Amino acid sequence: MSNIVYVLNGPNLNLLGLREPEIYGTQTLDDIAGLLEDRAQELGLEIDMRQSNHEGHLIDWMHEAQGTGAKAVLLNAGAYTHTSVALHDAIKSIRTPVIEVHLSNPHTREAFRHTSYVGMAAKGSIAGFGANSYLLALEAAARL
Ligand code: DQA
Repeated sequence: MSNIVYVLNGPNLNLLGLREPEIYGTQTLDDIAGLLEDRAQELGLEIDMRQSNHEGHLIDWMHEAQGTGAKAVLLNAGAYTHTSVALHDAIKSIRTPVIEVHLSNPHTREAFRHTSYVGMAAKGSIAGFGANSYLLALEAAARL
C-alpha cells in the first residue's frame, strides 16, 4: 500500500469560490488542495487531487486508486452523490477505503440531497464543515 490519498471531486466543484459562496464558502478547490497538501506532509501522506464534471472519470480514478495501491480515496462526488448507482458500485468494487466528503451538510438541505448512493457504500462520511471536511477526512484516512 502506498501513502497516496486520492482526493476526487465531482461536478461543479471546479467553481468553488464562485459557486453559491453562502453555502460552499469562498475558498477555491486550489485553496483546499493547498491546505490538504500541508496537512498531508505533516501526516506523512501525499495527496493526488483531481476534479471532473464527468461521472465516468470519477469511476476510472477509483479503479486507478485500487490499481496503484492508494491508501484511501476522499470522494466529494457533488450531485452524483445523490444519483449515481455506478459510483456506488465502483466504491463496492474496490478494496481501497473510500471516505465520503461534503462541504455542506446535505441532510439539512433539500430532500433530494438526503439520499447518498456514495454514503451507502463508503467507509464513512464527513459533511458540513466546509473546507475542514476535507481535512477531517484526511485525518480519518491517516488513521485507517
Ligand atoms: C456537495 C453537496 C451536494 O449535494 C452538491 O450537489 C454539491 C456539493 C458538498 O460538498 O456540499 O455539488 O457535495
